[in-house]
Amino acid sequence: MKKIIIDVDTGVDDALAIMVALADPNVEVLAIICCFGNTSLEKALKNTLRVLKVCKRLDIPVYRGSSRPLLACKRDAGDYHGEDGLGDVPDPDAPGLELVQKEKGVLAMLKIVNQHPEEVTLVATAPLTNLAVAVQLDPLISKKLKALYIMGGNIESRGNTTVCGEFNFVADPEAAFIVLDRYTCPTYIASWEFTCRSSLPWSFCDEFMSQNTDKAAFLKKISPKSAEYQKETTEGKGFNSCDTYALAAAINDNIVIKSDKVAVTLELQGTHTRGLMVLDYMELLKKKHKAYVMKTIDLEKFKQMLMKSLQ
Ligand code: BDR
Repeated sequence: MKKIIIDVDTGVDDALAIMVALADPNVEVLAIICCFGNTSLEKALKNTLRVLKVCKRLDIPVYRGSSRPLLACKRDAGDYHGEDGLGDVPDPDAPGLELVQKEKGVLAMLKIVNQHPEEVTLVATAPLTNLAVAVQLDPLISKKLKALYIMGGNIESRGNTTVCGEFNFVADPEAAFIVLDRYTCPTYIASWEFTCRSSLPWSFCDEFMSQNTDKAAFLKKISPKSAEYQKETTEGKGFNSCDTYALAAAINDNIVIKSDKVAVTLELQGTHTRGLMVLDYMELLKKKHKAYVMKTIDLEKFKQMLMKSLQ
């Protein structure tokens, strides 16, 4: 069994990422920790519970993480995910927040990783605030993880939030800097450009959401706003469920076809480039730890995982 913890700011693509994890019989989701990001922390918690309810997995513990960035001004992605983070189609029967665990998310993350040293894979699809706080509290967490998968960052200065900035890294650049600097476990990054390059035809999107299941009906209901946004902007080449790529890579070792192994850091200063990921191919920064920056993915295998996630 592959043990994973998912750190989310549950918007539409985080929702699908969670569903992909839950659909794999070889994966044990030990905890879901929420962060502010696409929407407020409270809404991210509620959205996570909605996803777990539709998957009939309310047994998975959900924890409250960070409600704001370390230093940056708080932002959200309401234009894309809707004001409520899940396409603005409220569910009057959504589970209540009393189901959220009382223990703080970052402390739970540290406790679980310490209970299963070198066994837990952490998948982060939100701003990296919880991970940054965790490594400040317990620097050894980075060695005790089996692996870390991140959806975030961009390389070719193709932004989706600021001119040159990808949402998760721009939402808390200092946290992203700390994580890229301090986590020394095997680290895999699904950058914004990688996910754009790997987008799927809209016809596939229609097909997999038209499956006759509650999960498919739920995803179809929450998706129109983000799909419309993608089609109206430069992202319009296809269906890009960004967070799902990181999750798919974390649970299926063979799905990523090509990565660069390179030292990575983050620009914290630039007027337009704050939050931009920087790859040190020349090794000028003399960083020992190198991350895998994903380049291509097996799209057929990825499609099969998405199909299965809604069955
Ligand atoms: C990332 O930002 C969020 O809006 C998505 O959920 C994804 O995690 C893409 O830049």
